[in-house]
This record gives sequence, structure tokens and C-alpha cells, in this order.
Amino acid sequence: MKKDFTYLQTKKQQNQPITVLTCYDYPTACLQDAAGIDIVFVGDSVGTNILGYKSEMEVTMADMLHHLKAVRRGVTDAYLLIDMPYASDRNPKQAIANANLFLDNGADGIKLEGGTEKVPIISALTEQDIEVCAHIGHNPQIHGTKAVTHGKTVSKAKELIQTASDLSDAGAKLIVLEKITEEISQIITELLNIPTIGIGAGRNCDGQVLVINDILGMGPHFKHAKRYQDYNQLTFEAICKYKEEVENGNFPSDANVDMIAIDKLERVKKWLKSTR
Ligand code: KIV
Repeated sequence: MKKDFTYLQTKKQQNQPITVLTCYDYPTACLQDAAGIDIVFVGDSVGTNILGYKSEMEVTMADMLHHLKAVRRGVTDAYLLIDMPYASDRNPKQAIANANLFLDNGADGIKLEGGTEKVPIISALTEQDIEVCAHIGHNPQIHGTKAVTHGKTVSKAKELIQTASDLSDAGAKLIVLEKITEEISQIITELLNIPTIGIGAGRNCDGQVLVINDILGMGPHFKHAKRYQDYNQLTFEAICKYKEEVENGNFPSDANVDMIAIDKLERVKKWLKSTR
């Protein structure tokens, strides 16, 4: 069943957690879709996690389109969300043109970072029937990669709550809460009619999002994340084993080769001899 915004909204109403993971390639998209992940998300974290960039700010529309197309080929049921990369949504006209490029290439909705300054952009996108996920708290495109927790002071907590409400009123269909104190995330989740998706935002959001590399153990460990696999170790071991077996002659073995029938081989050898 194709998951749309109504499905996600119903999950919130029925208190069923929404599952979200970042995804950057076709094979991982197939696995996430098969596992029943609700939102497969092409995050701009592709820049630091896959492309070797120093920051999300280096990610371009072309980078995002390349990964979107690969992920689209692997997703059947999940809602396919994609990040607007840095500076691709500076004004309504630019945001609409870039968002449409993503929708034309298979995205179901777009996510953009920022606070109340993004109200006119979200309103304009919503008027075009483009489904928008807002993103507040830690915003890598604004604050850089080093994340600090938001919502620890009274004034910052009030500001976050007001911003979430303004972005929802502007038409956002979802909102990511990143690195926000658990209690303030809960207040926002209870206040808004739209689903909240937390990352480092505690247990009371309507859903959770994590970076696929972090759950697989492909990089450093973060407090907000959990490792379900030791990908780096397993992959490194496999690479070393392969290298060792090529070097010691154990790969390829009988199981990995195809052979010609002996009589035919004899004929080839005979022919070769006659030509020399
Ligand atoms: O790009 C990203 O990884 C994000 C996180 C919120 C998951 O935006």
C-alpha cells in the first residue's frame, strides 16, 4: 500500500509511531521499503555520509537529484521525502521551481530547514499543493554539523513552540524536531495537529528519524542514535579476507569458475600447436 500524507496523519491520530530513515541509494531503499519503513528520506546528510563533503552546505540540487532517482527506483510503498539542499529555497519562486524538480523525479514531499523566516516559503509551496516537512531545532544548514540541544532555556523553549506553531499554520504537513529537549518536543507534539518526527528529541514525538549510517555503525556514535549493526567492522573484515584469499590463491576456487569440456580443450590445444 502506497503511504501518503493521510496515512501518516492517521498514524499520529491513532498514536502509532511513524518510522523514518535517511536513505541514499537503491539497494538500501529496497530494504527499507521491504521492512515497512513509513518515510524513506533522502537527507542532505548524503553530503557528509556518502559524498565525503565537510558539511551539508556543499550539497547541490544535482547531488540530491542523483540520489533521489536511485532511491525512487527502490521504493514502492514508503512516502519518499527529500531535503531541499542549502540555498535552494531562498525565495518562493526558487523554492517552487526546485521542489517541482524533485516531485517530477519521484519525491512525494520536500523538507526544508529554518524558523519563521520560512513561513512565506512554506505558504507558497503549500499553495502549489507541494507537501512540506519543516525542520526546527538543530539545523545543519544554519548551525553547522556540531549539534547542541535546543529548548533548555525558557525563552528558547517558548520560541521553539511558537515557531513550530507558525510553520504548521503556514501549511507544513510534518515537522522534524532535531536536538530539542524531550519535554519541549512533547509540548510541540501535543500542540500541533501535524506529525512531529524527532531526532535527538526524546520519546514523545509522533515518529523518529535516524541517519541510516548511524544505525548501521558506519561512522561515529552519537548519543541520540543507536547502533543496530557494526557495518564498518564487518565490511573491513570482508575486504581483508578477500585480499588475503586473492593473495594466497584461495580465491577464486572451484566454486567460482566455469570450465570447457576436456575433449574441446584438447581440440583447442591441438589447433594452437598446429598454428605455431
Ligand atoms: O539530512 C538529514 O539526515 C536530516 C536529519 C534530520 C535526519 O535532515
